[in-house]
Amino acid sequence: MARHLLALSDFSGPELAALIDRAIKMKRESRAGVRHRDLAGRTIALVFEKPSTRTRVSFEAAMYGLGGQVIYLSSRDTQLARNEPLKDMARVMARYVDGLVIRTFGQEIVDELARYSQVPVINALTDLHHPCQILSDLMTVIESKGRLEQLKIAWVGDGNNMANSWIQAASRLGFTLTLACPEGYEPDPQILAAARSEAERPITVVRDPAQAVADADVINTDVWASMGQEAEQLHRLQVFRPYQVNERLLAEAAPDAIVLHCLPAHREEEISETVLEGPRSVVWDQAENKMHIHKAILAAFLAGGSQ
Ligand code: CP
Ligand code: NVA
Repeated sequence: MARHLLALSDFSGPELAALIDRAIKMKRESRAGVRHRDLAGRTIALVFEKPSTRTRVSFEAAMYGLGGQVIYLSSRDTQLARNEPLKDMARVMARYVDGLVIRTFGQEIVDELARYSQVPVINALTDLHHPCQILSDLMTVIESKGRLEQLKIAWVGDGNNMANSWIQAASRLGFTLTLACPEGYEPDPQILAAARSEAERPITVVRDPAQAVADADVINTDVWASMGQEAEQLHRLQVFRPYQVNERLLAEAAPDAIVLHCLPAHREEEISETVLEGPRSVVWDQAENKMHIHKAILAAFLAGGSQ
């Protein structure tokens, strides 16, 4: 049975920490000139039903960097666009490739693919989760702060896919997470309840961004309208206006707080230009780390026999 990466809650704290450690080690080795060839002769398919710059390119670069091959399919290129059942596609694809990386809408789509796939399925973003992104974010925090345990991490903005995956990470990795979200835009209640029942430290949702970032070591934000929510964009701009991460909000955080944004960023909406481009921002390292964490994920999940 293949093991899949669908949501962070499917993994223990030590398993997540081991993946991040492996990525940090591979990054260090790559910079020292080591050429990893863990997946020579192996192939993955990227099936993307939503746009992507970073996730697509970093998965492709990671797989080529490991000596493997990539087949990229957008939704309009496949029979999914003509309603071929997922369970049929999953079983066929697994006969051609060694892993499936999928970006799509409903979490139930990746869950169903995984149920029928003989090869690992990796969630590259759904409406509910963005687990690979949060792994590279955690790696970036460790590089900057040296640890995750006992840090105070704040999320400011929409209780979206990113927020849900951060909540699951908090339940496994021993940091305090406070999310500031407007009323009606809180994270998924079931994910929150399950995470709280397992977490060692508090996971709290508040309304006031200043309360969430008070003394925080790490501040996170993301777009106010995610992919698929374009029709709500104008309304969301009004609702989320008090949730901008700017210099004034940053002044409430710890003096050495860092700022994360998974990108793409909308300057002067969820984050000010000065904060995004300023000395506290680690977004470019965070974006680079996607490639290193994807190498670690592919090497770990595709370990074992080839097709
Ligand atoms: N952060 C992220 O997932 O970016 P892309 O949408 O460009 O892949
Ligand atoms: N929440 C955003 C993340 C983009 C990487 C979205 O789903 O569009």
